[in-house]
Amino acid sequence: MYRPYIVCHMVTSLDGKVTGEFLNRPECEAATEIYYEMNREYKAQGSGGFICGRVTMEQSFTGGWYPDLSKYEPVKKHFGHYMNCWFDDLADANYFAISFDPKGKLGWQSNAIEDSDPGYGGAKIIEVLTEQVDPRYLAYLEEKEISYFFAGENGIEVPLALKILRDHVSPEFFVLEGGSIINGHFLRADCVDEISLVQAPVTADNDSKPLFFEGDIVDFKLFEAEQKNGTLVMRNIKEREE
Ligand SMILES: NC(=O)c1ccc[n+]([C@@H]2O[C@H](COP(=O)([O-])OP(=O)(O)OC[C@H]3O[C@@H](n4cnc5c(N)ncnc54)[C@H](OP(=O)(O)O)[C@@H]3O)[C@@H](O)[C@H]2O)c1
Repeated sequence: MYRPYIVCHMVTSLDGKVTGEFLNRPECEAATEIYYEMNREYKAQGSGGFICGRVTMEQSFTGGWYPDLSKYEPVKKHFGHYMNCWFDDLADANYFAISFDPKGKLGWQSNAIEDSDPGYGGAKIIEVLTEQVDPRYLAYLEEKEISYFFAGENGIEVPLALKILRDHVSPEFFVLEGGSIINGHFLRADCVDEISLVQAPVTADNDSKPLFFEGDIVDFKLFEAEQKNGTLVMRNIKEREE
């Protein structure tokens, strides 16, 4: 398996949903705290950082800000050559925010996450793009010294993206932190090795999305489970043949 080990770490409702209003309920507060604490523990255990979909990155970190691309000259890239990438000097970095942003819709103000939680703050941003991106967006990323690479024509090919990460960034494991759509892409590509869930004692409404959007049947084995502050915390591991 030449790619990083992937732990999908999420807060769920009792009915296995991961997005929507239930996350704001008081019943979910303890689960959210435990979730962040576990994220920091994963970092202490050597996680190379967290991987999130464009919507989660926007809601959690960029707040919808976007640069004025009209002031940038397009960067000529040889689209179609997947290894085409631009990496800022990452020598001093060992913790990353991997952003699956196929069309380059995210506006970052700097090249590292700004957040008071040490499980997120300071993580060096790497944008994973497709050929759908506006070439002026690349100039903006380069000006901000934000690393990026291409991993597909229309959609991001998850195994390819993980291989490039292993080649260029090298951590042995990353934590996949949603939301539902990106998790579904990883599951269908057989790129989820472990599922780490913090289950809040609340059900979700009809608009909430499942842990894996457009999921599939995949067998995991329960590795450990415990009750923490009124929530169920469990780890399930995918059994693989040697
Ligand atoms: N319960 C939890 O622990 C938890 C954790 C994190 C987030 N969340 C919640 O999740 C919600 C967002 O989840 P979501 O499912 O709507 O969105 P998401 O998974 O965060 O982002 C989906 C977007 O990411 C891009 N993307 C991801 N993988 C891709 C691939 N392989 N190929 C192409 N594009 C890919 C696409 O961007 P484009 O749309 O630009 O094409 C896609 O629409 C948030 O509201 C947040 O509250 C919950």
